[in-house]
Amino acid sequence: MVYDLIVIGGGPAGYLGAERAAQAGFKTLLIEKRFLGGVCLNEGCIPTKTMLYSAKIFEGAKHGEKYGVVAEGIKLNHEAVMARKNKVVKMLVSGVRSQLKSCDVVVIEGAGEIRGKAAEGYEVNANGETFVGKRLLIATGSESLIPAIPGAKEGMEKGIVLTNREILDIQKVPDSLAIIGGGVIGLEMASYFNSAGCKVTVIEMLDHVAGNTDRELAQIIMKNYEKKGIVFNLNSKVTGIKDNTVFYEVNGQASSVEAEKILMSIGRKPVTFGLGIENIGVEIERGRIKTDETGKTNIPHVYAAGDVNGVSMLAHTAYREAEVCVNNMLGKKDIVRYNAIPSVIYTNPEVASVGETEESARNKGIDFEKSTISMRFSGRYMAENEQGDGICKVLADKKNGRIIGVHMIGNYSSEIIYGAALMIETEMRVKDVKQLVFPHPTVSEIIREAIFKF
Ligand code: NAI
Repeated sequence: MVYDLIVIGGGPAGYLGAERAAQAGFKTLLIEKRFLGGVCLNEGCIPTKTMLYSAKIFEGAKHGEKYGVVAEGIKLNHEAVMARKNKVVKMLVSGVRSQLKSCDVVVIEGAGEIRGKAAEGYEVNANGETFVGKRLLIATGSESLIPAIPGAKEGMEKGIVLTNREILDIQKVPDSLAIIGGGVIGLEMASYFNSAGCKVTVIEMLDHVAGNTDRELAQIIMKNYEKKGIVFNLNSKVTGIKDNTVFYEVNGQASSVEAEKILMSIGRKPVTFGLGIENIGVEIERGRIKTDETGKTNIPHVYAAGDVNGVSMLAHTAYREAEVCVNNMLGKKDIVRYNAIPSVIYTNPEVASVGETEESARNKGIDFEKSTISMRFSGRYMAENEQGDGICKVLADKKNGRIIGVHMIGNYSSEIIYGAALMIETEMRVKDVKQLVFPHPTVSEIIREAIFKF
């Protein structure tokens, strides 16, 4: 049978793309080599959020006296946390499976390899069978970057060096954990394992954690975690790993840290290997599949969405990219706008951002003004956060008053940030937001407070 569309990869980009295409009437085949739901559902977003929620409840109970709640003998049962995490993952994966089934997407479990182009379409091999698709959507995602640090590979073989995959399945909380890379994964895992009673040390090459996050927010989150006992070694370049020891250099000085386990979280790279894209000549640029704003590659009817294009590497971006690809396949012109994609770090407190940071705005030569306000101006924040040090920062373009960036640290930020994304996406100005009514008392009101400080 000739399919209208063959999707390779069943993560957020793949399963949503397949669903949308099938709903629009395409005969669709999806090929997944590992687990439906991809990294996000199985070894990324969902497992971490499940674990972090348990840690949050635990922390809340442990420090309950501040709120008049006294409890004794509280402990975090890691085994039970993992069992619940597995249950949540299983439920969501089976949800994806039944959704695909209800849309009549044919799902094949196996590795897909593009073999070439025949008269009727592209030939893709999986489990020894050849399938033909008039169109292809490549959604093979990304994998952990393992640097060429001496000893890293050996450490992985010994089960001492872990990636997000292994650590999210760890059965026992290690006594100590050294985390290489203080980015999103590093901070979220530092957060859980610190709550779980593990001695955590973060080794970060740059002079700040949290990557491109607003620097002030990055500083606050680091301070919060230092207070909880996490050790941060900044400006520290890892030079080698030997058994349980990570060797690094700080300003030319050699140093080391010993830990029961070592987490490698220095970034991810697109999965383009073993896919057979070279058989049809799909262009790769710096390790990623090159696409235009509609998701098209250089080859007709071949699209790519999600981490494999290396643009934004977030599950929610992948959803939108997949939709855009399918819309264009259907002849409906659509593009992804990347200027209002929110990002969240699910630490406790949460960090959420959208749009330009001060740094990126300056680099683009945008003349902006900013309003920064303490979260303590929010009644609900005060009610729920003793000694909270959250802030909200809004950036506006001086030329036209448009909101260009919103950055928040404090709980519920993850649930509020889409409202700020909407402001940026719809090009709202400071004076427009002033006319909006926010529910009271909520933490979201802090955006309104910040806006009125302009
Ligand atoms: P990342 O890019 O966020 O952070 C990697 C960090 O490692 C950077 O701060 C970098 O300076 C540092 N680093 C690089 N080489 C190093 C070295 N040799 N020694 C010490 N430090 C070094 O990457 P991460 O945390 O691995 O996350 C990967 C991807 O997963 C990201 O693209 C992120 O978008 C996604 N993700 C998103 C989450 C969310 O949205 N909440 C949660 C977890 C992951």
